[in-house]
Amino acid sequence: MQRKIKYCVANWKMNFNSTQSKEYLDSIRSKIFKRNNIKIIIASSFIDIAMNSKYLSNNISFAAQNVFYKSQGAYTGEISCNMLKEVNCNWVIIGHSERRAIFHESNEIINKKLTKVINEKLSPILCIGETEEERNQNKTLEILTSQLLTAFNGISYDKINNIKLAYEPVWAIGTGNTANFDIIDDTHKIIRNILLKNGYNGYDIPILYGGSVNEKNAKELAEIKNVDGFLIGGASLEVEKFYSIYNNL
Ligand code: PGA
Repeated sequence: MQRKIKYCVANWKMNFNSTQSKEYLDSIRSKIFKRNNIKIIIASSFIDIAMNSKYLSNNISFAAQNVFYKSQGAYTGEISCNMLKEVNCNWVIIGHSERRAIFHESNEIINKKLTKVINEKLSPILCIGETEEERNQNKTLEILTSQLLTAFNGISYDKINNIKLAYEPVWAIGTGNTANFDIIDDTHKIIRNILLKNGYNGYDIPILYGGSVNEKNAKELAEIKNVDGFLIGGASLEVEKFYSIYNNL
């Protein structure tokens, strides 16, 4: 049963140089105590992933914020799954809303990335979420359905049943506007229903919440039954805040 474990994922985005990254990891390593039911996953910049891997432990693992879907070749500026595996980076965030909006990643590109990551036996965290406009137009169900089903296209059911999802409403990311308890609870149920209706194990696939999670709201949000962890941006940049969120999970 995958959902016995909770995930506390730090998405550092384009922050921290190597010195800052090391200071942070020294500090978090000295604080965390072993809680077998919680996994800390840190998504640093590509450039630091190799260095960070020496902090790998039962408690802390590392994620890439993105990856390319080809194995190798003339793809200037891209990073392959093999490169990640070599430096013990076992997790990959796919389809973050900033990748979708700023770098124009379509659901089809996300499908290629998800397929590649799964074939390479890395663990994906697939991000989905609607914009404010889409929510106001009552399109949340439609948008989440197409994000999920296009991303899953051509991938076997048993493989999809092993992925992790992150519901991140675009209007809550980096804005300080956390979705409220009811919206998160309802939307996580909607996602589970989409999964079940389409033959996936909607009861068992972990769904993290992301969008302005901080040390003040983490306790309340962690009580939502359908929330299996957090994907944290801004608040993950301060060790104390991230540690406090971890303690509230
Ligand atoms: P935020 O970012 O916590 O700063 O809202 C979350 C994310 O982008 O994953």
